[in-house]
Amino acid sequence: LSVDGKTYQFPTLVGSENEPAIDISNLRDQTGYVTLDKGYKNTGATKSAITFLDGEEGILRYRGYSIEELAAKATFLEVAYLLIYGELPTQEQYSKFENSIRRHTIVNEDMRKIFEGFPVNAHPMGVLSSLVSAMSAFYPDSYDGKGEDKTELHILRLLAKLPTIATWSYKKSQGHPVNYPKNSLDYCSNFLHMMFALPVEDYKIDPVVAEALNVLLILHADHEQNCSTSTVRLVGSSQANLYSSISAGISALWGPLHGGANQEVIEMLEAIKADGGDVAKYVDMAKNAKTTGFRLFGFGHRVYKNFDPRAKIIKKAADDVLSKLGVNDPVLEIAKQLEELALNDPYFVQRKLYPNVDFYSGIIYRALGIPTNMFTVMFAIGRLPGWIAQWKEMRETKEPIGRPRQIYVGETLRDFVPM
Ligand code: MLT
Repeated sequence: LSVDGKTYQFPTLVGSENEPAIDISNLRDQTGYVTLDKGYKNTGATKSAITFLDGEEGILRYRGYSIEELAAKATFLEVAYLLIYGELPTQEQYSKFENSIRRHTIVNEDMRKIFEGFPVNAHPMGVLSSLVSAMSAFYPDSYDGKGEDKTELHILRLLAKLPTIATWSYKKSQGHPVNYPKNSLDYCSNFLHMMFALPVEDYKIDPVVAEALNVLLILHADHEQNCSTSTVRLVGSSQANLYSSISAGISALWGPLHGGANQEVIEMLEAIKADGGDVAKYVDMAKNAKTTGFRLFGFGHRVYKNFDPRAKIIKKAADDVLSKLGVNDPVLEIAKQLEELALNDPYFVQRKLYPNVDFYSGIIYRALGIPTNMFTVMFAIGRLPGWIAQWKEMRETKEPIGRPRQIYVGETLRDFVPM
């Protein structure tokens, strides 16, 4: 298989006396062969033209554009447009897209009644997935397969309303009234306004914070067939509507092995701080994980055998933002020490256990004033265009209903003996 001039070899299956080995190097587009590869699970069979990543080289591109360039020059909504529609927008297309999103930022007031019923300490991810699922009931034109196709409207609604809903949980946790969107603001500034503005005082959006948020959302916008994305595709493959599919993706993202990892990172750093801040002790514990059971969250990545390209960008952004904002947070100091110790330790270097995107994203969100239990919500806001693009692609290419192949490994026929 050749991608971008680089050749990849597929393994040749090892045969046995009765079954000769088969060469599967040409099977890329063929069907009918079932192999068990735990690493690929049920996502290995997906073709997609959205996001390219090369874990060996640490390359990530959206629709052929490098993540480094997009993070430096684009707005999050430009990237959303690119992912969803395949091309960067013209100025005219962009204004139309942005204005259409603005028109949908308000959420049905009756959804607030559902929200009011959640306990004050409900995890914002539980609230988010429930309310996004509820959107399919509040906007009943979302049912697919019947009547006019309103996919474009659902896309705009989701992009517009997710930040609004996301800020409600935070406001409630503070005992503050929710803020309605301020549509004169850009996407990131509007989110910051809804999060942090109070009716009793002026709130000035810090451009450093808004820019950092823009970069963070772009870096999280898609990452090909990971757990949440393949969930969105699989749910949508049954012709389930977009809201239900995205709600399922939000639930998948919540897990500590996926989007919940950056929350785990900060909680780990807090625990190290509470234990006296002896970073070297924890590095040693991680090296002896078999006996200590301690794991360093935010290090290593399933596909990146090199540095996660997003982590490089985010690390620089974190350094810039922390110094520009003059943030002096002992937990952030612990993070820096941990990173330095690990990056200079042969144990981590040999295993290529570099800090990943989750390690730095928590640090920077914290510096921006985003509470820890909102970190995964921020990931969801960033990932939304990617999920939408993947769902749309899967529907447009008329993929059949998903049904992961199973290799049965249980008991063979057994006789039932009554108790
Ligand atoms: C992501 O961005 O989705 C995560 O890095 C998880 C992954 O891609 O496996």
